[in-house]
Amino acid sequence: MAPISSIRQPIIDYLVDPSKVAPIDQGQDVIQGLTLQQKTIPPHYLYDRLGSQLFEEICGLPEYYPTRTETSILQTSAPKLAQITGNCQLIELGSGSSTKTRLIIEAYQKAGYSLAYVPVDVSTNILTESAQSLLLNYPFLEVHGLVGNYYLALKNLPDNNLDSRLVCFLGSTLGNFDPKECDYFFNQVMTVLKPGDYFLLGVDLQKPMPILEAAYNDAQGITAAFNLNILQHLNWRFAGNFNLTNFKHQAFFNPEQSQIEMHLVSLGQQEVRLEKLDLTITLAAGETIQTEISRKFSLQYLQDYLQKQGLKSHTVWTDNDQWFALLLTQATNQSDPMLNNTFKAPQD
Ligand SMILES: C[S@@+](CC[C@H](N)C(=O)[O-])C[C@H]1O[C@@H](n2cnc3c(N)ncnc32)[C@H](O)[C@@H]1O
Repeated sequence: MAPISSIRQPIIDYLVDPSKVAPIDQGQDVIQGLTLQQKTIPPHYLYDRLGSQLFEEICGLPEYYPTRTETSILQTSAPKLAQITGNCQLIELGSGSSTKTRLIIEAYQKAGYSLAYVPVDVSTNILTESAQSLLLNYPFLEVHGLVGNYYLALKNLPDNNLDSRLVCFLGSTLGNFDPKECDYFFNQVMTVLKPGDYFLLGVDLQKPMPILEAAYNDAQGITAAFNLNILQHLNWRFAGNFNLTNFKHQAFFNPEQSQIEMHLVSLGQQEVRLEKLDLTITLAAGETIQTEISRKFSLQYLQDYLQKQGLKSHTVWTDNDQWFALLLTQATNQSDPMLNNTFKAPQD
């Protein structure tokens, strides 16, 4: 066994002070969301230690087709990706367990290219544990993780000493953004890409409603537990008194917005206090708190959209059913100046 001192440790930068009350903006985003007419909680609060573990369980559920479909696409596309980019710095936004990323890492290893991996995630434990395990498994890999939100991370990236930069955003996490946040996200991504650098996007495509709704209403109730855990997370972080038994999970497809919506339904009239935010809210029986949207895209819409952002299509990979797509694009740094950028990001 190697002596402990010789075990490589990843570099991890904590872009947020873990002793502070909230990882993003001290909970102002919670106050803002819970005082809207349609109450909302920002979806990053789904991911504390337990939330990230539950998400991993969701990825393996029979109803949850996105992970296994994206994995199958990566199995064939990762070796091609390595050939296209060569030596590169791989920045993964919302990296989670980096499980699918292993397919990419292995493809670069096999092709003999250098890879500097920069996982970014707001969920501390899953990022640090995965970074350590990747270093153990892949001696050729450099790992420099960033704990924090996407926008803070993009402002604090380590320098790139390799030929190109590849930013990847897998798991259809893009679908969690409304159109305004999407515009803001790409505006920020473009600030770190030079012309010729790459952006790889994994997205869920439109498909029949029963398949979509089943994926967010699994028979074992793991998605329900994941959704309800957001309240437990707020209780812990903000000294709240949400009683989880007073809420029920709800997920449905909204065809007008082409999005799955995840809500928590209040089972009765109730009052909830979040002490550290000095916030008291009241909920009527049947009223809901929206916790996540998951937009389902058409491939053509996305390609046109990315082009407008200054990302020209390089290669598109899909599965046989066209349920999921992996889009490799290249920065041209000519985004449409007319794009709406009114989204107000936390910490800006
Ligand atoms: C849908 S999961 C996807 C995980 C992984 N990329 C995959 O494809 O399986 C979203 C990931 O993004 C992280 N995340 C969510 N909001 C974030 C934010 N605002 N900034 C940074 N990470 C975030 C979560 O902690 C979680 O690991």
